[in-house]
Amino acid sequence: MKISCAPWLAPFLCAGLLAATPEDPALQRKFTWVDSTDSAVSDIRRLGEAMIQKVGNNLISEVSRVVPAKGPEAGIDDLHLKQLKLPAGQPGQPQVTAVKRTSLKVRDPANLPDNADLAALMSIHSALADGDTPPKVLVQQLEAEGSAPAEWRVYRPIVTSAACLVCHGPANTLEPGVKAKLERLYPEDKATNYAINEWRGVIRVSIVAPAGSPANPKKTTP
Ligand code: HEC
Repeated sequence: MKISCAPWLAPFLCAGLLAATPEDPALQRKFTWVDSTDSAVSDIRRLGEAMIQKVGNNLISEVSRVVPAKGPEAGIDDLHLKQLKLPAGQPGQPQVTAVKRTSLKVRDPANLPDNADLAALMSIHSALADGDTPPKVLVQQLEAEGSAPAEWRVYRPIVTSAACLVCHGPANTLEPGVKAKLERLYPEDKATNYAINEWRGVIRVSIVAPAGSPANPKKTTP
């Protein structure tokens, strides 16, 4: 098993987080970091960022529509983005094949990070822990593995607003009905105790490019 953990991370921290990720081989993908400013990946980055922007806007507007209309308890059934459709894409062009939201503290185990996601999350986490500005965008290239094709990944951090806290705020501030329903549906829930403007996780877009394009980007160390 290849563990891709940035060498500059404290080993214990890394080990702890990796232990939290299931040993499922599907969650272990070989990846390399790509310099997001490299012009060879500008089309991929642009496509990824446009989709992330759209998904982020939809996520926020859905919360501000659903919660006032139904209340947070009933709203739990709708959130987040269950109707999200991927763009059709153009023949011969790079295409968005998946959108994922993940975090170091997930509510739904279906959103658990794989090792490449975890590396992206950790680079943001470490920047914040060091008091640095976290990267606005991260790009990775993944090798094909089994039936999974080679893909590009574009990540952007997502931050909480006041509207998020009715379901992601401190446990003792949640409405009792919300708390009970979250406990029932998500017994492993780790996504509470957030404050306003806190880093919540990432939106990730996967992109598959047709064979032969785009040019091979240069590799960088994170
Ligand atoms: C009405 C309750 C509710 C509100 C309000 C809410 N969420 Fe969530 N959130 C959920 C539920 C339920 C899940 C698990 C299902 C899913 O991932 O869609 C979730 C999951 C997530 C995830 C995916 C990672 C994980 O923990 O599984 C992110 C990221 C997230 N929420 C961010 C936000 C942000 C940002 C806001 C505010 C703009 C927000 N949420 C507001 C209920 C809520």
